[in-house]
Amino acid sequence: MTGPATRIGILTSGGDCPGLNAVIRAASLAASAARTELVGIHDGFEGLLPPVSHTLLDRRATEGIMALGGTVLGTVNRGRFCRRTGAPGRQGLPAEIIGQARRTLGELGIGGLIVVGGDGSLSTALQLHHAGIPVVGVPKTIDNDLDATSTTFGFDSAVECVADSIDRLRATASSHKRVMILEVMGRHTGWIALHGGIAGAADIILIPEIPFDHGALAVAIDRHAGEGNKSTIIVAAEGAAPLHGRQRRVRTGSGEHKLGGIADAIAAELGQRVDREIRTCVLGHLQRGGAPTMLDRNIATCFGVKAVELVKEGRFGMMTARHNDHTTAVPLEDAVRQRKRVEPGCEIIKTARTLGISFGDPPRQ
Ligand code: F6P
Repeated sequence: MTGPATRIGILTSGGDCPGLNAVIRAASLAASAARTELVGIHDGFEGLLPPVSHTLLDRRATEGIMALGGTVLGTVNRGRFCRRTGAPGRQGLPAEIIGQARRTLGELGIGGLIVVGGDGSLSTALQLHHAGIPVVGVPKTIDNDLDATSTTFGFDSAVECVADSIDRLRATASSHKRVMILEVMGRHTGWIALHGGIAGAADIILIPEIPFDHGALAVAIDRHAGEGNKSTIIVAAEGAAPLHGRQRRVRTGSGEHKLGGIADAIAAELGQRVDREIRTCVLGHLQRGGAPTMLDRNIATCFGVKAVELVKEGRFGMMTARHNDHTTAVPLEDAVRQRKRVEPGCEIIKTARTLGISFGDPPRQ
């Protein structure tokens, strides 16, 4: 340490999402109100390792960033910190990486580090906490799949993007009397497809938690057309899969295999079974960029202020959370233990079924 560690550090890690800059701005203002400096670490945890990269986040540096998508600090979802604890089969971080992070924080005079991230990054944060590094978590993900908080910021913005996209697709699909399949994000959970689909008045919603049957989809499309509807809109989470089938993957430009391609796979199957033109649309990263909604700005702002409060109170190993419209704190451990999944019998699914939305479930035997 080069002196008393009184400054607060903040980094954004993992996939970006709308609202990250609102957290940074709020934390900066809260730190200044507490007569402390906020130091931003660039490119997630990577900025803690040589070549160390950081910036002072004073009032001037955070002016006007509330409405910006992405993160002014940069982020990575790969790199030297990506080995995680928290789930079976994941490795721990090497001791030299933890040692270097500790040294960097000491050299920068940082006495508390705010980590804004999803399940992977918060698992890394938890491991740093177990190693004695003073860490506070802030949950972010458009997927809304983190346990121990009723919602994460970024989710509402993604849902709005999906619903808006359905509105647009409905206009063209109805004009041509087509079936339109919209593929949205959601690797393990169907929260975005479910909430975006309901808000956009989709006719069929496919999520990873409810395996679907192609025959049932064809029946639902024919029934829908038979009722006089001009178009049928299907929203499919990228992680949805047919019963006894597998999730679809595509190769990215950098040679990685990522989930994707479910819309085209369904279209190919349905082409054999329904007498309608079918088109697909992959929303991809459009639902992750863009300005945060007002709800996400407000949740993110509350989280930024709460995170600084937790650091000032020395409540390390905790994460900001939302419950019953209040901002609270929960142990990081509770947030990364398991994923928050859509329960097939939950209220929102029942609501959707009452509206006539099909989940493509196979016919009951
Ligand atoms: O975790 C959010 C998420 O948006 C997933 O739904 C999606 O599969 C993934 O990130 C894509 O991330 P990237 O393309 O940036 O690796």
